[in-house]
Amino acid sequence: MNQDELKTLVGQAALQYVEPGTIVGVGTGSTVNKFIDALAGIRSTIAGAVSSSVASTERLKALGIPVFEANEVGELAVYIDGADEIDHAGHMIKGGGAALTREKIVAAQSRKFICIADESKLVQVLGRFPVPVEVIPMAAQRIIREFAALGGSAAIRLKEGRPLVTDNGQHILDVTGLQISDPVAFESRINQWPGVVTVGVFALNKATVCLLGTASGVKTLTF
Ligand code: A5P
Repeated sequence: MNQDELKTLVGQAALQYVEPGTIVGVGTGSTVNKFIDALAGIRSTIAGAVSSSVASTERLKALGIPVFEANEVGELAVYIDGADEIDHAGHMIKGGGAALTREKIVAAQSRKFICIADESKLVQVLGRFPVPVEVIPMAAQRIIREFAALGGSAAIRLKEGRPLVTDNGQHILDVTGLQISDPVAFESRINQWPGVVTVGVFALNKATVCLLGTASGVKTLTF
């Protein structure tokens, strides 16, 4: 199976965590797009979704799934999202699609975080994938220097030659050269830096379960 087929497999497997009659937390990215497509097949059994990005909202609505604002609803039973990396304890790097802030918000509102990923995302230590950090633009250069002091190299993410602007009107730094051996400590530390909106390490609120797409089928990792 190729990577796209593995994404389809885990997107469909995630349906088992969707509780009838509830509102589902929905992430962002190519793997979640497969989940959204699968969710459309059972849309009459759910109340709707809370979405983590403009892109996912558009896809959900196009498939006839009602989308609620996070503030309109209470706690969600499950949040289903992909990851750029996941370690063997369920800590993740996320934000390759620039949606990390809303992803962390919807995940925090949910009892369970179901991560769906193909096996290329499973790592021993987080940090091979550049860590996305959403920042207030006026703080970007100072935060780049702070990462350099930690041994990392941060660059402003560009789109068509200009800084990418997130759904929240902010910028993204991508940080390479870090080995994140203590993800909880790393997330806690970077969260304290003025101007950081969200760091793309999801460790304080990590995955509950990972459905990992492998050549031999879907493996369920429970953390
Ligand atoms: C979006 O901002 C990310 O956090 C995605 O969840 C992550 O990049 C995984 O995306 P893919 O499923 O496209 O690999």
